[in-house]
Amino acid sequence: MIIFRDNYFFLEGLDISYIFRIDKAGYLVHCYMGKKIKAYPTHIVPERFYCWHSWGEDGVKLDEIAQEAPTYGHTDLRKPLISFGEKISVLKYKCHEIYKGKKPLDALPASLDALSDAQTLEITLYDSLNNVEVKLFYTVFESMNTIARHVEVINRAEGELTLDSCYSMCIDFEHSDFSETHFPGRWGFEREKVTNPVVRGTLDINNARGGSGHFMNPHVCLHSPDANEKSGDVYSFMLVYSGNHSTVIDTDQRMRTRVMQGINPFGFKWSLKKDEKFTSPENLITFSHEGFGGMSRFLHKFIRTNIVRGYWKEKPRPILINNWEATYMNFNEEKILSIASLAKDLGIELFVLDDGWFGKRNNDNCSLGDWYVNYDKLPSGIEGLAKKVTDMGIKFGLWFEPEMVSPDSDLYRAHPDWAIHAHGLKPAESRNQLVLDLTKKEVQDYVIESVVSILKKAKISYVKWDYNRYITDMPRQGFNHEYTLGMYHVTKCITEAVPEVLFEGCSGGGGRFDLGILCYMPQVWTSDNTDPIERLYIQYGTSFGYPTSTMGSHVTASPNHYTGRKPSMKTRGDIAISGNFGYELDITTLPQSDLDAIKKQVEECKKIRSLVQYGNFYRLSDPFTGNIGAWQIVNDDKSESFFCATRVMFKSNVYFPIIKLDGLEEGALYRDEYTGNVYSADELMYRGAFIEFPHGDFVTFTMLLKKI
Ligand code: GLA
Repeated sequence: MIIFRDNYFFLEGLDISYIFRIDKAGYLVHCYMGKKIKAYPTHIVPERFYCWHSWGEDGVKLDEIAQEAPTYGHTDLRKPLISFGEKISVLKYKCHEIYKGKKPLDALPASLDALSDAQTLEITLYDSLNNVEVKLFYTVFESMNTIARHVEVINRAEGELTLDSCYSMCIDFEHSDFSETHFPGRWGFEREKVTNPVVRGTLDINNARGGSGHFMNPHVCLHSPDANEKSGDVYSFMLVYSGNHSTVIDTDQRMRTRVMQGINPFGFKWSLKKDEKFTSPENLITFSHEGFGGMSRFLHKFIRTNIVRGYWKEKPRPILINNWEATYMNFNEEKILSIASLAKDLGIELFVLDDGWFGKRNNDNCSLGDWYVNYDKLPSGIEGLAKKVTDMGIKFGLWFEPEMVSPDSDLYRAHPDWAIHAHGLKPAESRNQLVLDLTKKEVQDYVIESVVSILKKAKISYVKWDYNRYITDMPRQGFNHEYTLGMYHVTKCITEAVPEVLFEGCSGGGGRFDLGILCYMPQVWTSDNTDPIERLYIQYGTSFGYPTSTMGSHVTASPNHYTGRKPSMKTRGDIAISGNFGYELDITTLPQSDLDAIKKQVEECKKIRSLVQYGNFYRLSDPFTGNIGAWQIVNDDKSESFFCATRVMFKSNVYFPIIKLDGLEEGALYRDEYTGNVYSADELMYRGAFIEFPHGDFVTFTMLLKKI
């Protein structure tokens, strides 16, 4: 609900209030954001700011005031939401509108109003010095704890206006008694959970590598220093964007905290002619006073409801087998068919042909961009192969890396200028490849046409959309945003052309795991690191921001190709089954005992996948701080729950670990389907479960609890 009363705006979601007001001079003053305030006196916040010198001509010193749309240089010298280079800007309230639903964002992905319970406040501010309008958008979702924000800047002046920075939101908190948690990483170890106290000064959690990145996920939480999984205030800030991003946490001399999130101003510039508009990406603010667990469950629900869309939105995801770690690029039709046929016998539902099927690609130094089949490897072509596989009764999927070009490719030889390059410099290669310049219409059209024509001709049910390098040699400031818009256009055209195809995003594993991608593709390959012990940390870290239905997780070979570890089939299966399950190993060379185990895992996954993919996620034991990682997923009516604990190393002669479960129905009894044991929910939640791990390192313990 959005209420406007006595110059105050009251934005209220399920258990969240966001309050600000228009002051006498026309500035937007932030009052409060956090747990819902259900009753108000006349004035919710007394005038608290004071000052002893240097007031502006309107009697206000903005440096002292919590604001919604700060600018730099007149009476505020803190970091601005928006800046027009050296031009000072003063933004004052002009008008506002409150309406049902929400408008789409120009050329950018954004959240939906899937439950038709959203209301939007659109405030127009006016800068009379520069003749510029700035619109602030706030969408409240009645049944959610998330508020969506973004900003539009419209140049009303005759001359050109240059935007130097445009964050999507700003919140000024009145204190700095916070810690922050964010999710940096690297290839093979994405979304590590890192917590720091908020210190005096500026923390800029950012990425300027062209994509949202392995290095820094666009998700930052500000929270009470003692927040844990069950208690404490947690404010989550997440961007619906896949390009360079920045989250600034800035404390001032009076120990107040300003948070802003949006496009990274570094390398950004945007020119606006008269009446042209710039739209920032959308930012999502989610609040919970029930710690990180509460925050994640609110956010997961929001993502499943209002970010993920289309045919696969609420469908159980197919169990797939991918040939990458089975064959890499060394395969032929016979090998592919033998894997697919055995997979079908094991109950697997989808075969995915990964990299190496096109051009003359037998290693990673050629052919990206030449999206035509290699008949030497696949004599029946993609159409013929897809038909043979689907005739077996298993669906067929295909890998693409649409945004890339290899210097050794027909595409590059014909159009060297289609690769991103700058100032006459030979562009830097990474994994022997260059990035196509998707700011150019002809390049966008080529990519759309070459991918869609294959998807329309062959029986393809799934696409793995890869993106295996960062962007270098960007030719001008603002290019990364232009590229990101071009990439969204291409992605939209391709995904809308084949609406029933399931798309999985990928970027050297989980290097572009963000809400922008999830608006087009309902799931993402979480990491190239498939060792289940490493995945324990990666999936645990990823779960803070993203629901299990978005995380691809596969069982791979032992020893693991990357780490050399040899966890059991059970451990590999238990970790992978906690996401969108699949396999990525050469099943044709496995002993019968492993095939039997796979058949059982596949049956098990089919039984529990709706629960796992769409249930409520509880983190119970943090592997980043201990030897055991544990999570639990409970369905909405609390009748079923999947629990998985993983012990990293065996420790000699220690007592049974005890883990307290969560989310069950108080007073109810549950039967563990794996052992037949019956437990009281209260005992499991208050006394805890005794975890009887099998002997050894790298072991798991699972329970499938059903309410009796
Ligand atoms: C990336 C992906 C892998 C695989 C390879 C193919 O690294 O993350 O899963 O598809 O590319 O080249």
